[in-house]
Amino acid sequence: MLPEKMENALNGQLNAELYSAYLYLSMNAYFKSVNLDGFANWMYYQAQEEVTHAMKFYDFINSRGGRVKLSQIDAPATEWNSPLAVFEATLEHEQKVTGLINDLVELALEEHDHATNIFLQWFVSEQVEEEESVGGVLEQLRLMGEAKGGLFMIDRELAKRSPSGGGKEAE
Ligand code: FEO
Repeated sequence: MLPEKMENALNGQLNAELYSAYLYLSMNAYFKSVNLDGFANWMYYQAQEEVTHAMKFYDFINSRGGRVKLSQIDAPATEWNSPLAVFEATLEHEQKVTGLINDLVELALEEHDHATNIFLQWFVSEQVEEEESVGGVLEQLRLMGEAKGGLFMIDRELAKRSPSGGGKEAE
């Protein structure tokens, strides 16, 4: 049985993961609007991954006999000044999510909820990967500075992302 405090916090994280999907879809739309299809592709799969994260929380709450409660999802930003600004916002967002996951782990320990603690360990590792991959793109964008050629090179690289590691976004 899921402790009530834990159930509420997991529902909060379900909302946060859905917001992440919303945010990255908005970034996908921004990149589409400036014809950077590789960057858009990367965000498309990033959004899909967030839906997968949300569903892990959804299924876990149910499997523990908890009650899923869906709540309002905030509207994300729709405009950014540059690809660099988008990836700065992305890293900041992922760092915030890492903090939320860490808080959930703390709560699981306080509540002696070992099952939830084990469930959350996957997310602890996932956040390391998330910050690393976003930080990698950010680093490339910073190194590139104002050079247009570099931007298109990164765009071509990001076009390769797919759920299985190859191919590109479905039109
Ligand atoms: Fe669900 Fe990007 O963390």
